[in-house]
Amino acid sequence: MTEHTPSDELSADDHLGKGRTPARAADGHAPRADWNPRGPRVRRDPLAAYDALRSHCPVARGPDGAWTVFSHADVMATVLDHTTFSNAVSRHLQVPNGMDGAVHSAYRAVVDRYFTPQRMRDLEPVARRVATELVATLDVPGQVDAVAVGARFAVRAQSAWLGWPTDLEEELLGWVEENRRATRSRDRSRTAAVAQHFTTIITSLTAARRGDDAPADVTTELVRDRVDGRPLTDEEVVSILRNWTGGDLTSMALCAGVVLTYLADHPDLQAHVRAGLPDRELDRTIDEILRLDDPFVSNRRIATEPVTIAGRQVAAGDQVIVNWTAANRDPRIVGDPDTFDPDTHAPYNLVWGIGKHVCPGRPLATLELRALTRAVLAATTAVEPDPDRPREREQPPAGGLASAPLVLR
Ligand code: HEM
Repeated sequence: MTEHTPSDELSADDHLGKGRTPARAADGHAPRADWNPRGPRVRRDPLAAYDALRSHCPVARGPDGAWTVFSHADVMATVLDHTTFSNAVSRHLQVPNGMDGAVHSAYRAVVDRYFTPQRMRDLEPVARRVATELVATLDVPGQVDAVAVGARFAVRAQSAWLGWPTDLEEELLGWVEENRRATRSRDRSRTAAVAQHFTTIITSLTAARRGDDAPADVTTELVRDRVDGRPLTDEEVVSILRNWTGGDLTSMALCAGVVLTYLADHPDLQAHVRAGLPDRELDRTIDEILRLDDPFVSNRRIATEPVTIAGRQVAAGDQVIVNWTAANRDPRIVGDPDTFDPDTHAPYNLVWGIGKHVCPGRPLATLELRALTRAVLAATTAVEPDPDRPREREQPPAGGLASAPLVLR
């Protein structure tokens, strides 16, 4: 075991919802922890901490009793076993991520209709325009924070996709920031207030789309969509929109920070992309950069029956957290985890998950990251690390960089 620092801090969370009350031992005492997912070691260097745990304590119990699974094989086995591991980790309605079995399939079919190849083709010029217009407002030459650029781009691109008004931009950006702070704080009243704020924003948009004069956009389409032959309820629509926007705006910002920073740190790769890499190859490049430092760290499951994972006895009802970041860097799968090799690693890449809950938004996120990367490179002759401003790591439960200072030339 590498870390034995029990504390009252709870375990890593994901962007798709909060967990249930932590598991307790039968005698009522909190079980002994193998590590502290939010302790100083993880805060200082999360990739090194996850790498160490994966090799020395591949299934580790946190101070709240939740298990975290670090190896590629165990993460795959967990998320592909939809019977032993349930997604129903939250008291709140979470469409479709908090659902299992046939119920999940029915809602997932609704969600998937919004990410078809044709829809993505139609959206691509929109994302390109949004990216080009945003990058045109940056100082070149000048300094930027790639995460801040990514956050603004994510809000604009998602709003353009969903038909949301541009005057919501500052409120949504403020919300993204507040959401990041609330998630880090683990203060339940704060996260509840942030969730309520988002519900208020979304409800004002959906309410305006119930009438005859609703605009012809994706939000209206969703408000009028059906599942199992009946209309979606307001609560279901809000839940779907929450998943499409709420945390994924943050994920997009963090992904943009990681991708642009890696290109700044690797001028040869940057030159290769500038030379006109075809979309498919650029997408693979982006996926591989995200594999090296996956900012979307984890998701939760709950064991439906007693199960042994890598020799550890997990009880029915225990929470099991899959750490995608660690699995993506497993040397048994990728050799040296820091080697950049998109073609070899693509089949094992878990940045977008795997199994029934695999990310339906992947094609959208990919086309947005591609559009932003191309726009930044097209407006510059070089993107470099900023020697005057230190970069900061994002704090658990998120990953990647909190701030990514770069120089544009
Ligand atoms: C920005 C980068 C993103 C990353 C790295 C990412 C990653 C992931 C991962 C790993 C999962 C699997 C979760 C699990 O197994 O429990 C997932 C699920 C999901 N993602 Fe994403 N995602 C991103 C963006 C998006 C976007 C833009 C959308 C929608 C607009 C989206 C919508 C969803 C939904 C609805 C699910 C749940 C699917 C289900 O349970 O069937 N994601 N995502």
